[in-house]
Amino acid sequence: MFQLDPSAAGLPKVEAYQHLAGQAEALLAGEADPVACAANLAALVYHLLPGLNWCGFYFFDGRELVLGPFQGRPACVRIALERGVCGAAARSRETQVVPDVHAFPGHIACDQASRSEIVVPLVRSGTLVGVWDVDSPLPGRFDGEDKAGMEALCRIWLAATAGPAR
Ligand code: SME
Repeated sequence: MFQLDPSAAGLPKVEAYQHLAGQAEALLAGEADPVACAANLAALVYHLLPGLNWCGFYFFDGRELVLGPFQGRPACVRIALERGVCGAAARSRETQVVPDVHAFPGHIACDQASRSEIVVPLVRSGTLVGVWDVDSPLPGRFDGEDKAGMEALCRIWLAATAGPAR
């Protein structure tokens, strides 16, 4: 049985993300179901990274982004690609790091407490699968180290879910 290891608390960010990536590899090992892996990854990140109020997945259904597994308060279910930080990440296929969500034109406030946000596009073999979205109540919570760390976590999810579910 997987044991959640909180020992990264207090480590420098780069090392904390390395620790988190190791935990994610172990947690997703042997399971390829995209929803199950997304649910467990969201729970892992939410419980191991400090200063978050929401993290989770939106999956692309071919038209818009649809809410997937997450941790935090209930969120908006559908996001058009023209809208929000999630839409910007999906359209550009570039990670969006937003230090102040109030300064981001078109930001969608699912939780009024959110002050900063990072959204990583999930692209498999050139196809948009969805986005990984993380919110913080702290302004400027996410930087380049978070970008690298979150992108690494997304690669772990993409690799784990690349094959048949079982
Ligand atoms: N803030 C996002 C919407 C999703 S919630 O944060 C969960 C956006 O602007 O796309």
